[in-house]
Amino acid sequence: MTQHLWSGRFDSAPDPAAFDFGVSFPFDRRLFEDDVTGSLAWADALARAGVLDAADAGAIAGGLRAILEQGRSDPAWVSGDDEDVHSFVERQLVARIGDAGRRLHTGRSRNEQVSVDLRLYLRRRIPLLQQKLRAAVAAFADQAERAGDALMPSYTHMRRAMPVLVSHFLLSHAAALRRDHARLEHAREEADALPLGSGAIAGTGYPVDTAALATALGFSRVVLNSMDASSDRDFAVSFLHAVSLCMVHLSRIAEDFILMTGEEFSFFELADSSATGSSMMPQKKNPDPLELVRGKAGRAIGHLTGFLVTMKGLPTGYNKDLQEDKEPLFDAEDTLAVSLDATAAVVGKLTLHPERTGGAASGLLLATDVADYLVARGLPFRQAHEVVGALVRRLLAEGRDFEALSVAEWRESSDLFGDDVKAKVTAAASVRARTTPQSTHPDAVGAALAETRTWLAQGSAV
Ligand code: ARG
Repeated sequence: MTQHLWSGRFDSAPDPAAFDFGVSFPFDRRLFEDDVTGSLAWADALARAGVLDAADAGAIAGGLRAILEQGRSDPAWVSGDDEDVHSFVERQLVARIGDAGRRLHTGRSRNEQVSVDLRLYLRRRIPLLQQKLRAAVAAFADQAERAGDALMPSYTHMRRAMPVLVSHFLLSHAAALRRDHARLEHAREEADALPLGSGAIAGTGYPVDTAALATALGFSRVVLNSMDASSDRDFAVSFLHAVSLCMVHLSRIAEDFILMTGEEFSFFELADSSATGSSMMPQKKNPDPLELVRGKAGRAIGHLTGFLVTMKGLPTGYNKDLQEDKEPLFDAEDTLAVSLDATAAVVGKLTLHPERTGGAASGLLLATDVADYLVARGLPFRQAHEVVGALVRRLLAEGRDFEALSVAEWRESSDLFGDDVKAKVTAAASVRARTTPQSTHPDAVGAALAETRTWLAQGSAV
């Protein structure tokens, strides 16, 4: 009968249907490298504790290194009908070095092994996602720089609100992505604790130096409690959450540019390479990549919710349910990676139509500036709001906007209006009138762009 890591206790081989159902190797093979890394450190810790003699420890280390090398040079080799990646590595080790290989699992359980593997995996993979996030932030920064002093309307309730610099809008998306970068960093920090030494649940009886083992594997601390460690996947949930929220941001970016590159807005032009045609309608230029990014957000959120439901109500200690952590986690990672690449590529190749955005930024959305003009001349804001409201009503009825008003007409609504009103009520003056550091004032946006560049150059420490 096929030997499993646990066959000793059983009279008969497992039912193939039940065994196949429990197999995780087809997907946890992705943890191969981490499994070997963890085992190398564990063997070393056993040797230091005097549990393994030098000869066995040397043979195990040599065997594991050879396995690592083979798996790296030939990823397809990491396969077989093993139950999971841990069984595969152990089988390969015993095949190479014989009995010494059977000593590796002393004092260790797969329950902690799978946890250490997943933590090591996230620690090495999260930085790759962060690198892609930085590329997306850089694409926004480059576009912001190119946009110069171009103006556009901003929207609240999807209705024109106030003029802003196009660069301010672009950097608004960079700001959200920077929070995602920090959130991924927190998930990485949460994964940064060594579970080895927890045994199956109660701890291990072998005198392993867990602090030294943590250091050897690059962990900054050891978990607090072996029982908690065997069923803790909070770090995986935090990762799924960070990914989901980043996907939510990417879906909003996608939505903005789907709208703004469409005929109704035409604020930006989508590069041909970022679009697809229609099989039937020759005129179509569809923003497929952006739509897919928007759609894939649902998938990432589904993984987060799904795994939270798996976690809910589990009794203390390892439960096989936890094997359900890997597929959502890997798929969330892949989804975010491709979505970030697609977003950076599309955003990087957008062409701005400044005459369209600038044209849309003037007109009645300067009403707040008109009210502010009156406030500057002493009128209480509520009254100013009313005066301008009435003026807007009149202009709407006449199909005109502020620019068309003569000074005499301005004065009809309030004698506080002076000759300077025409110069003060423009989109360019409007953005200059915002003065806070987070505002759309050209100096503030210039500083924000410089600060974004510094963040990118510093490897995004924050
Ligand atoms: N494949 C398992 C998982 O992903 C590894 C841990 C197995 N532990 C056990 N007691 N069966 O969770």
